[in-house]
Amino acid sequence: MIKFASENIKFLEKISAVPVLKYFFVLKISANFQKIDSEPVLKKFYTDIYVNDKTSKKTEKNRFDDLNETSLNYIKKQKNPVIHDIAVSNGISSSELSGKLKTGNIKNEFYISDKFAEIFVKKGFITKIYDSDKNLMFAYIGFLFAADKNIFFPLTVLLFKLLKKTKIPVNFDYKLLLFHPETLKKIKTGELRYINYDVFNTVIKDKFTFVRVMNILNLGYFNRQKIKPALENIKKSMKENAILLIGRTNADGINNAGFYKKNNNKLILLEDVNEGSEINSIIG
Ligand SMILES: C[S@@+](CC[C@H](N)C(=O)[O-])C[C@H]1O[C@@H](n2cnc3c(N)ncnc32)[C@H](O)[C@@H]1O
Repeated sequence: MIKFASENIKFLEKISAVPVLKYFFVLKISANFQKIDSEPVLKKFYTDIYVNDKTSKKTEKNRFDDLNETSLNYIKKQKNPVIHDIAVSNGISSSELSGKLKTGNIKNEFYISDKFAEIFVKKGFITKIYDSDKNLMFAYIGFLFAADKNIFFPLTVLLFKLLKKTKIPVNFDYKLLLFHPETLKKIKTGELRYINYDVFNTVIKDKFTFVRVMNILNLGYFNRQKIKPALENIKKSMKENAILLIGRTNADGINNAGFYKKNNNKLILLEDVNEGSEINSIIG
């Protein structure tokens, strides 16, 4: 059945739309991820997972077409561009920006990160999957029953609560990197470099010349008190004169964002895109 599913994309597309079954396939056909190029299936695998801090992994191809041109203009003026795309979900937008840099013959080092890019799998009678904070994300009993905090059958909710109380494994059988195959290919060739980075906690000093932070430091996810230190942390990671692109894609798909420059330890607004960043008043 697994072999049949992984070789029959139409069947996989249908089955991955069924919440209780999609995780089964996430685990069982993970070895074949690279061969699957169906967007509906990939969406289920890479971006339909709700992570523990209530952010989502939602992302889209061509999401930043309008921002990429301006980004390119800033990057091509830099001597040795070192780029960091933060909280990239499946990394498809990073792959697009990197593709444009390649086409424009702009040499660069391109780092991508996402706190919840990796999931950790413990196989067994009950197969359990944990996020990078080792919180239980979902679990599987055989292939018929998935326990997941996002599936709201009373029995599933109860089972998930019970499983959350069980001991966290010390070792895992394997981990999966939840990136789009296109992103994974570019990581393999070195065009993109994956780093572990939690926007609130990881400290990197004076490294990047261009940082993009889209759809993570949103007021819908975090309050101002939480966002402010994250901004300070990001600023620390930027070189003098480095550019920050920060913003949010609204419900109509419009990017409200701003480009800022690090100058004497301050972030100075260079230009707004559409309405600008919703957190402009706390960027500085
Ligand atoms: C809505 S997605 C944004 C994806 C992409 N930047 C875009 O705009 O299309 C938010 C991402 O933030 C990641 N994330 C959540 N908390 C994070 C943290 N503390 N540090 C880094 N990434 C985090 C999630 O895993 C998720 O993939």
